[in-house]
Amino acid sequence: MKILAIDDSNVNLLVMKGTLEKHLPDARLETASSGKEGLDLARTWFPDTILLDLQMPDMDGYETIRHLKQNPATAYIPVIVITAADVESKDRVRALDLGADAFLQKPISSHELVAHIKVMLRIKKAEERLRHSQKLEAIGILAGGVAHDFNNILTVIRGYSTMLLMQSAPEDPNHESLQMIVDAAKRATSLTQSLLTFSRKQESTPSKAELCTLVSSFEKFLRRIIGDNITLNFICDQHTVHASVDRSMIEQMLMNLAINARDAMPDGGQLTIATAHVVLDSKAASALELSPGIYIHLTVSDTGCGIPKELIPKIFDPFFTTKEIGKGSGLGLSMVYGIVKQHCGTISVDSLPGNGTTFSIYLPANDTPVIPQENQ
Ligand SMILES: Nc1ncnc2c1ncn2[C@@H]1O[C@H](COP(=O)(O)OP(=O)(O)OP(=O)(O)O)[C@@H](O)[C@H]1O
Ligand SMILES: [Mg+2]
Repeated sequence: MKILAIDDSNVNLLVMKGTLEKHLPDARLETASSGKEGLDLARTWFPDTILLDLQMPDMDGYETIRHLKQNPATAYIPVIVITAADVESKDRVRALDLGADAFLQKPISSHELVAHIKVMLRIKKAEERLRHSQKLEAIGILAGGVAHDFNNILTVIRGYSTMLLMQSAPEDPNHESLQMIVDAAKRATSLTQSLLTFSRKQESTPSKAELCTLVSSFEKFLRRIIGDNITLNFICDQHTVHASVDRSMIEQMLMNLAINARDAMPDGGQLTIATAHVVLDSKAASALELSPGIYIHLTVSDTGCGIPKELIPKIFDPFFTTKEIGKGSGLGLSMVYGIVKQHCGTISVDSLPGNGTTFSIYLPANDTPVIPQENQ
């Protein structure tokens, strides 16, 4: 977590530094002694929260907030304004109007400072998640519309080229060209199907299934995909929870995640698929943008190369790939995203470059858990 403190008083900056080092040891603090210096740092370093003094010579706190909020690159950074004890209500209102997010009064209580920073980070994360899902939603609508029309056109190309191919003898000089048209049309169809899955325009046929059984019935196939140098582990919790799912979509989702894990572990490693039932109360559910209730928590973890932090916001975008040309189309995770959303679930990723990646999926369960009877 990156925090920027802007204050013309060195003493205040030192106090904040001490407080953060003690109570938020993971936080990285940068300091600026003027509004101008603070703005420059905010534009290049992109902190997660800014602590801002109001009274500063040259560019004061109000002016600094105005600049921060005017620039789209820094407008989303939460600003906690540090005020003198005697600050008037109209000054607070002015700061709020300009875009301040919270106030702290001097002398600052370390507990309040830490609590405020935590709240700001929660809000920033929630906003980022919302913007990300809105972006994917917009791309989905666009891609889905194009894919739908393309699919219709491809049906005609596939139909006529297949018919012509059937009518041409193998020695016909056009036979090979026709075969190439048919093959290309098939590849294009598979690509548009992937886009339709991402944009949830693929029809689904849900049926009630027990996720743990569904996943383990797919085990043999997954083992074949990942090869011998990767160990596959299955962990199922003891509760039997059913969900209404489209079997083939869930299989496609697992297949895409397993292929990615395999590609991330060229020298072998561990792929672990776990299912558990969880009850999300309103706080836990809202953090995941879900409604409270019973969910199946499916995690797919690998011990592979991991994903750099700056790439994480892009991995679900259609056509985003880091694989060489011909190796990946960048549609695997877009499909996974579409499938999870079609099942009214949510997906997130946690990755540490060099250590591995975990995809965490929540799917709504449609019954109450059946707890094994053996202890009763
Ligand atoms: N388990 C993983 N470990 C490391 N990086 C991953 C993992 N899963 C996905 N990625 C990264 O996310 C990118 C996008 O993944 P996605 O599955 O959408 O496309 P792809 O695998 O590149 O191509 P496709 O799936 O269409 O063949 C990958 O290129 C890779 O950089
Ligand atoms: Mg993939």
